Amino acid sequence: MQDYRIEHIAYACADIDKTIEKFKNLGYTLVSDIIDDEARNVKLVFMINRSIKIEFVQPVNNNSPVSALLQNQKNSASPYHICYEVDDLRSAIDELKNQKFVITKEQEPAIAFDNRKVAFLFHKDVGLIELLEKQ
Ligand code: NI
Repeated sequence: MQDYRIEHIAYACADIDKTIEKFKNLGYTLVSDIIDDEARNVKLVFMINRSIKIEFVQPVNNNSPVSALLQNQKNSASPYHICYEVDDLRSAIDELKNQKFVITKEQEPAIAFDNRKVAFLFHKDVGLIELLEKQ
């Protein structure tokens, strides 16, 4: 069985600049620049509080995967996914498919992780998860 190590927790937000300021007031520190992920139609940023890393993701148009989620939440910031780093991305995907997870986005390089590959999977008892291949 793969080792699923929490890499970050992601929030969807409608206005990344406002969200950054609010989370700064809750003790979070920026650990990246705002990154334009044109392939996914989002911009995103990472912040930490103690050892916990949070990714904030803002859609830039309605083609982004987080647009529908935000609309359902009336544009309030909302938990989006938990990302797990794994040693072998292909094996982890196969393992989770055997546990009835459905792939919502096949593995692709992610600009936010120096083009390491990520994939997204969903299970109704778990919600949406992201898998990140190890460095
Ligand atoms: Ni993520």
